[in-house]
Amino acid sequence: MKTNVHFSYINADELAYAGKTTVVIDVLRASTTIIQALQNGAREVIPVASVEFAVKVSGGMFGGQTLLGGERNTKKLEGFALGNSPLEYTSEVVAGRTIILFTTNGSKAIVKAKFSENLFIAAFTNLNAVADHLLKLDKDFEILCSGRGNNFSMEDVICAGKLITEIQKINKDVELTDSAKASVALSKSFGKSIVVMMEQTEHGRILTENSFNEDIKFCSRLNTSETIPYLTSGVLKPLQ
Ligand code: MLT
Repeated sequence: MKTNVHFSYINADELAYAGKTTVVIDVLRASTTIIQALQNGAREVIPVASVEFAVKVSGGMFGGQTLLGGERNTKKLEGFALGNSPLEYTSEVVAGRTIILFTTNGSKAIVKAKFSENLFIAAFTNLNAVADHLLKLDKDFEILCSGRGNNFSMEDVICAGKLITEIQKINKDVELTDSAKASVALSKSFGKSIVVMMEQTEHGRILTENSFNEDIKFCSRLNTSETIPYLTSGVLKPLQ
């Protein structure tokens, strides 16, 4: 088993993921929000790479059962029902609904990796569930950290490092690329208190400035969910 970590999706060629097993991470907040939506009974989440496409998809499909969710620069978009806070995605709001999700980076990273043979979504909240599943699958895997634009995001890379560390507890022979080794090293140095680490990241500070402190706390919870979002035909559903 071999793993590699990508620090941003921006320069990735979408064909680079064709036929691969890919784990997409956008801890703050898209991947945590997707896990929460599916855990709370959303029928599916459709990640999209543009607002225009989100509006188009929600207009004519799925019998009016869709909810538009997401953000631009942390804020809910005009005309959208939901923002990108995992706390908004309660079972009362999302159960049985199709969510069309546009976010500044996370949904774009997922769309970029859409040709993967297997595509899973991970965050701190479902870390062990994803690690167990990857161990069962026993295939090489790519971790695509969404980052912010072209920039490295500490929280995504630390989550990637922790995921690899969990896998190494069972499979000591996982082969790591340099970026995977760096992710593990960073998670050991900075991952002791996830909430403190996240509050100090660039993205954490932006969320704090915009009064999303509770989201940082929620996104820092470790292993509170068994839900693994899995992409089939462009749609994320819980892996059965
Ligand atoms: C993103 O996709 O860049 C994030 O999920 C932004 C956020 O809502 O914090």
